[in-house]
Amino acid sequence: MFFGRKKRLETIDMNNLPVHIGVIMDGNGRWAKKRGLPRSAGHQAGADTLKKIVTECNNMGIKYITVYAFSTENWKRPKEEVNFLMNLLLSYLRDSEKTLAKENVVIRAIGGREELSEEIRAQIKKTEEFTKNNTGIVMNIALNYGSREELVRAAKKIAERTKCGEIQVDDITEDMISAELYTGGQLDPDLIIRTSNELRLSNFLMWQSAYSELYFTKTLWPDFSVRDLHNAILEYQSRNRRYGGV
Ligand code: FPP
Repeated sequence: MFFGRKKRLETIDMNNLPVHIGVIMDGNGRWAKKRGLPRSAGHQAGADTLKKIVTECNNMGIKYITVYAFSTENWKRPKEEVNFLMNLLLSYLRDSEKTLAKENVVIRAIGGREELSEEIRAQIKKTEEFTKNNTGIVMNIALNYGSREELVRAAKKIAERTKCGEIQVDDITEDMISAELYTGGQLDPDLIIRTSNELRLSNFLMWQSAYSELYFTKTLWPDFSVRDLHNAILEYQSRNRRYGGV
């Protein structure tokens, strides 16, 4: 589709928007390599893209966006890259007080906090506190996040409640598990977008994505534009969601 923004927005059914979008922002390294730049330049460009996409989702009236910024497996990357990503996250969170927070965005981090530095933990708390009364889109930044870790954590919490007699084993329900996840209280993602031609979920929102529509694109994350977002939403709206029914 080669319409301008206005025309494309006219073709999107605003009454059938995904309520929650998940994004696996992949391809920063390849984007940088193609330009003869260090991987860090790709991550920096990726952070700029993220700002644009969150702003557009918020303007469209989408309620939640969850973005995969750093997985529990990403610690295996070279120390230099891990440090760069952590510093980028720190400055992104700091800057958000002047940018996304002013646009009414609620910012939250999901994932294990213990492994993060004291400085990042304190900044997350500050940013969450600073934005908690906003009424726009909720942006979950998945940071040191992995679905399996999230499910183990939920299982332990439920096991504790069973052990102390608060609930019986037979009382355990799907809703109870959902409530114990980092995304507890939020609606599951309707649409998950992964860039850079990788066709997997990589430990991202695996419980929550049971009925999500998956959208894969060859575009590398730093190149992902508002037009690409609109195209993903149009594709989502063309799907027939049956939730296991007919
Ligand atoms: C995957 O690309 C991307 C990441 C592991 C990091 C995602 C981070 C950002 C988009 C920017 C920072 C985010 C915030 C919230 C400030 P890759 O490095 O695996 O790319 P490759 O597969 O091409 O090597």
